Amino acid sequence: MAVSSLLLSLAAQTLTFLFFLLVVVFLGYCLYVKHIHMKYDHIPGPPRDSFLLGHSASLLRIMKNGGNMHQKLLEWADEYGPVYKIYALHYAVVCVSCPEATKQILMSPKYPKDKLVYKRLANLFGQRLLGNGLVTARDHEQWYKQRRIMDPAFSSLYLRGLMGTFNERAEKLMDKLTDVADSKTEANMLHLVNYVTLDIITKVAFGVDLELLRNTSQFPKAIETCLKGMAHYIRDNFFEFNPKNRGYINEVREACRLLRKTGSRWIAERKAAIENGDEVPKDILTQIIKTAKQEEIMTGEDEEFMLDNFVTFFIAGQETTANQLAFCIMELGRHPDILEKAKKEVDDVIGMKREISYDDLGKLVYLSQVLKETLRIYPVTPATSRDIAEDMVIDGIHIPGGFVAVFNSYVSGRLERFFKDPLRFDPDRFHPDAPKPYYCYYPFALGPRSCLGQNFAQMEAKVVMAKLLQRFDFTLVPGQTFDILDAGMLRPKSGVLCTLSHRE
Ligand code: HEM
Repeated sequence: MAVSSLLLSLAAQTLTFLFFLLVVVFLGYCLYVKHIHMKYDHIPGPPRDSFLLGHSASLLRIMKNGGNMHQKLLEWADEYGPVYKIYALHYAVVCVSCPEATKQILMSPKYPKDKLVYKRLANLFGQRLLGNGLVTARDHEQWYKQRRIMDPAFSSLYLRGLMGTFNERAEKLMDKLTDVADSKTEANMLHLVNYVTLDIITKVAFGVDLELLRNTSQFPKAIETCLKGMAHYIRDNFFEFNPKNRGYINEVREACRLLRKTGSRWIAERKAAIENGDEVPKDILTQIIKTAKQEEIMTGEDEEFMLDNFVTFFIAGQETTANQLAFCIMELGRHPDILEKAKKEVDDVIGMKREISYDDLGKLVYLSQVLKETLRIYPVTPATSRDIAEDMVIDGIHIPGGFVAVFNSYVSGRLERFFKDPLRFDPDRFHPDAPKPYYCYYPFALGPRSCLGQNFAQMEAKVVMAKLLQRFDFTLVPGQTFDILDAGMLRPKSGVLCTLSHRE
């Protein structure tokens, strides 16, 4: 009896102690949040929704209602100017659209990508996804070593050699579009271009034929699931703690595992081919294998590291280009005059030729302008961010070190102060004789961490667009929305529904 009451009293004391500890930790955290507010409150910015959550609540509300978070950031940039701050829990986030600061920070290797976002991309709901691969590596040395090894797979010499594959895979899409035109059905262009970009990246980067336009594969769905999961995980700190989301989170983890399992299989096959002395292409997969430690026996971590980059190339290199293509088709459908001009250029440069050459791409100047203008209004991966440890003065405002700087190409691309009448789709803004935008247009980011696949993506996009314009007339199905779906990347909400007919 005495023992049990002693135990009970001990348990009560422990619980009381734990309760007080929790209260002290909570009060300590509140004090810390207050300290952060006092440090950054002199910077202009919208009022906070809540003391603890900062601005996360309004941004989450937009996301939950299917809205576009970047539009809110744009409205704030219009209202509060080139530097404004928002809070997410105890993080001070400084949104910058000042070109000088954009140049100073993004062009320098000394500011690492911010841990708030990139650590979450590395491990999605606790399941390794992009790990320490090229997009997410935060340590400069670790990133630089990988980038040097990957560079040859993106040299212009190597890319020239990919023209055959770009042409061949784009022809498969044209065959599919021929069926659509013949059957006079509606086509969801976003779906179709998604298949072609996935087909291209798997063939070009990994030497594998997915033949997606013919087969059903879980792959596109898994990529989509991961991307959506990323948006939830990055933007909502409490998402994983809500029991209602458990099923969904398991689905996301399963999708991550599917991508990595496939990578594991393809890497093993390629390594076996290398060991057998077979001739293998110097493609992205071969380079990925080289980025792992050059030793006889690979550790588990080396294997994981290769998988990080395998998944990175799928996530970074596929939906991005597909969304750009879909937005481009949407804007051309809305602007018949621009469409006609682009068609005329394609007719003049490639005529009826099926095989588009690398040199032809250089001559499709107006089509380049159209693709650039598409990414001004619709930068499919709009933002990048850096941890800034040191004090800085941006646009005359002193900003104490310890903040996250966010750069958003959606915001800059739509600000009247950089682009007159910003919502007007006007490819002539990118005419070769027009002044170049000064650090306010960066759909591929800027500086050392800019997109490695920029040229690859634009060659691919041009081949697909040129063939489409060469062979088909297309019309947007009336009544569809031209809204943007903010699903981690930006996509056209409608899917861009078109009817097609063969050109005379
Ligand atoms: C329209 C198409 C594309 C757009 C708009 C785009 C945009 C971007 C952006 C904004 C970044 C910086 C991300 C960040 O700071 O977090 C990036 C990085 C990257 N992209 Fe792309 N991308 C496209 C296509 C591609 C393709 C086709 C590939 C590969 C075949 C690719 C591979 C990469 C890689 C590896 C990085 C990381 C670079 C580094 O940090 O060294 N991207 N891309």
